[in-house]
Amino acid sequence: MVGRKAGSTDFKYSDAMQKAAAKGLIWDEKNLNAYVEDPKKFLADYTGDAKAMNKMQFSLKNPKEREDVIAYLKSLK
Ligand code: HEM
Repeated sequence: MVGRKAGSTDFKYSDAMQKAAAKGLIWDEKNLNAYVEDPKKFLADYTGDAKAMNKMQFSLKNPKEREDVIAYLKSLK
């Protein structure tokens, strides 16, 4: 996951994710952290489209939890 291009599996991503992927979004630690904190806001900011629909309703507001999840994802490489 970490270091991968966004929207690059055969899942039918939201328009927002497809747009972000077309702009070259890479899931580095900084982007992952901001995305998991608030997926809708992250994609709106990244794509510059405040109305862009996003499909992930889940988020982690606790910074320590985000840090732990990202550390785990990094360990999978
Ligand atoms: C800590 C837990 C989670 C993390 C770190 C995480 C991370 C991510 C990431 C990085 C993507 C982009 C995937 C890609 O580019 O291929 C994504 C997409 C998505 N996730 Fe999560 N996710 C989490 C939990 C969840 C949960 C619990 C759900 C649903 C119950 C969910 C639903 C989705 C959906 C539907 C998308 C597609 C978004 C779109 O097309 O706009 N995620 N997630």
